[in-house]
Amino acid sequence: MIFRLVTITLLLIGCTEHPASTTCGQTGSLYRQALYPIGVALDMMELNSSAAYQAIATEQFNSITPENIFKAESIHPVRGFYNWLETDSLMSYCERTQKRVHGHTLIWHVQLPEWIRSFHGTKADWELLMKEHIQTIMTRYKGRIAGWDVVNEAFNEDGTLRNSIWRQHLGDSYIEKAYRFAREADPNALLFYNDYNLEVSPTKRAAVIKYFNNVRLRGVKIDGIGLQMHISIVHPGSSEIASALMDVSANEYKVHISELDISVNPLGKNITATTELLGEQANLMGAILLHYRQLPTKHQYGITFWGVSDRNSWIRSTYNRIDYPLLFDDNYQPKPMYCKAIELL
Ligand code: G3I
Repeated sequence: MIFRLVTITLLLIGCTEHPASTTCGQTGSLYRQALYPIGVALDMMELNSSAAYQAIATEQFNSITPENIFKAESIHPVRGFYNWLETDSLMSYCERTQKRVHGHTLIWHVQLPEWIRSFHGTKADWELLMKEHIQTIMTRYKGRIAGWDVVNEAFNEDGTLRNSIWRQHLGDSYIEKAYRFAREADPNALLFYNDYNLEVSPTKRAAVIKYFNNVRLRGVKIDGIGLQMHISIVHPGSSEIASALMDVSANEYKVHISELDISVNPLGKNITATTELLGEQANLMGAILLHYRQLPTKHQYGITFWGVSDRNSWIRSTYNRIDYPLLFDDNYQPKPMYCKAIELL
């Protein structure tokens, strides 16, 4: 009786904080409700060590993007040696659970192994290096990987080409060459270009679209563009996102929202996951789904979330900040963002 009195008193004077409801309870299956693929970036260690992680990955998503294991530092750590252990394991999981695989990423300036970063050779040597890397990986999984981020993040914010190691040794034409090599390796795979801030920078987006429109005029097939969409509840707004999606689609590219997460703490403050913040996140999630469904079906390659739950997000470790950017919370419980998705898909 006394305990009850104390509790009521504390509630009255507000000393007992009811933790904000970070979950919405409802569960279903995102991909079974969606009219287009719903994807997730998978971490193999988590997939093999957490039953909750694997359950969500299996039940909620029907498209898988490997978060890191197809990147050069992991899959091609030593010149001429390819590490197929984890990539084969991921392919087995995806084929066993009938999930699409989106290959990420063949040519990037980040997560390169030391032997590539310190490689010395002629332009022809570098071209052979790039060709062998692309075609060895794509050939192994030919016909089993639906789409590839052949080149990732090759443009600067002002629309110029990033002066990456690839461009330094191969010149501006390295991008076109990469897509030609990829097309040769697997003629049926869909080939994407993937980048960030395409939804917030019309300048960058216009430069990317112009570049690949020209590449297509020279007979190189490029099927789609990945807008990573690492966004926040502060920026960009719903209308900017809509413009970006329609702009890419209007140029006849498939549209992949390829790495979606919605930060609720872009300024790195000392926050908690309040009902208000998670509500804003859910509302923006809803707006994205409403805009995406306006695209022609032929351009709806899908929406991929960059991680299963908040605890798996790259954001926390990369920016060393509190954040809750994904569909499921740290206890793998669905958040309001998830329930909004289930409601609107
Ligand atoms: O594999 C090593 C491990 O051996 C070592 O013990 C550990 C110590 O820190 O590091 C591990 O490597 C980490 C790697 O992820 C694999 O887990 C790197 O430190 C870490 O920097 C790397 O972060 C990845 C990041 O790309 C690299 O830039 C993130 O997980 C991944 O989510 C992130 O994804 C990128 C997309 O590929 C491209 N778009 C941007 C997006 C976010 O940066």
